[in-house]
Amino acid sequence: MLADREMALREAVERVVDPVFFQTIGELATVRTLRLSRRGVEAVVAVASEHYPLPDELHARVVAALTGVVEAGVEVTVELEAMDEDERAALGERLHELGLAAAGPAGAGERTGADERRSPLASPQSRTRVLAIASGKGGVGKSTVTVNLAVALAQAGHSVGLLDADIYGFSVPRMLDVGHPPMVVGRTIVPPVAFGVRVMSTGFFVDEDKAIAWRGPMLHKALEQFLVDVHWAAPEFLVVDMPPGTGDVALSVAQQLPRCELYVVTTPQPAAQRVAQRAGALARQLRLPLRGVVENMSWFTTPDGTRYELFGAGGGAELAATLDVPLLARIPLVPAVREGADDGRPVVVADAGGEVAQVFADLAAAVVALGPARVYRTELRIS
Ligand SMILES: Nc1ncnc2c1ncn2[C@@H]1O[C@H](COP(=O)(O)OP(=O)(O)OP(=O)(O)O)[C@@H](O)[C@H]1O
Ligand SMILES: [Mg+2]
Repeated sequence: MLADREMALREAVERVVDPVFFQTIGELATVRTLRLSRRGVEAVVAVASEHYPLPDELHARVVAALTGVVEAGVEVTVELEAMDEDERAALGERLHELGLAAAGPAGAGERTGADERRSPLASPQSRTRVLAIASGKGGVGKSTVTVNLAVALAQAGHSVGLLDADIYGFSVPRMLDVGHPPMVVGRTIVPPVAFGVRVMSTGFFVDEDKAIAWRGPMLHKALEQFLVDVHWAAPEFLVVDMPPGTGDVALSVAQQLPRCELYVVTTPQPAAQRVAQRAGALARQLRLPLRGVVENMSWFTTPDGTRYELFGAGGGAELAATLDVPLLARIPLVPAVREGADDGRPVVVADAGGEVAQVFADLAAAVVALGPARVYRTELRIS
């Protein structure tokens, strides 16, 4: 009897999803002790280190799970204990295995030889849709769209990662206040979470003043690490803030993530022909399927309600028509967008009921409705 009850308690704890790893405690195998006595239930759960970033949240989840299965009045005590070096290394391996397992059955073949360094996200079985947010020119709002789209997808209940692939010109850490740095567990890097989104950026690892010294191969290595060694835990979406143009970094993102879909951000100037050529060239050079256009800074509304189309009109629609893809959103120019970016609280959070938040919610819904691309890069198709 006692054994049965202890089993039920254990199962309840093991079903708890760790808020940092996005895996269950059962998958992580971190229950240390579970005791049922006259005094109540006592559970000890191991955490990766004393710097484990969300102890209160984890604690609350375990307490709630246990409280849900004991009789009223039974005292529930939960303790978190930091792992030692060996345990941490083992957890790192476990996370690596879970990452590969999440990539699906084909992941098994990827554990050997040259494929060892391939990302689970690159597996043909991966369920993750990778949304690359790019533009023909700088400053049009790629990072703004990336951050707000990612959070809007999370607000709609999806699991979402955000990769800041603008590794020289990262801006995501400033735009999303993550509160805690990435955690390193063995060879696995665990991304911090902001507003429900797992986030990775070179900005977490460099001092802004020293970024200049950190160039070339090291940054390439960083990108590879972000795809292979980061514990993304197979989110439904990975939104990627692409570096400008078709430089090496953009090419290697596209190369390492064969299931990447391209979205182009543009401003409303009707210089469609030139912009279209650039966007088309971008898609061809990166060899990514172009899925849609997002027009940013479309209009500005004055306090008296008058709409001004400061940067012209129709550019997004024209570009979309020329490229034969849908225009997925028109985002107004609103000071709160920039303020949100500067405060680390994106406008979809800071002004959750507002006009722009609605535009991003609609954009997220439109991206979901598009569904995955049918054909990714042809040369990578598995026959
Ligand atoms: N709809 C908007 N309303 C108001 N401000 C905006 C809007 N979109 C972007 N901005 C602001 O414009 C600036 C440029 O946007 P952002 O950094 O997103 O562009 P980017 O394309 O990522 O630029 P870069 O090429 O430098 O990476 C930022 O200060 C941002 O806050
Ligand atoms: Mg940017």
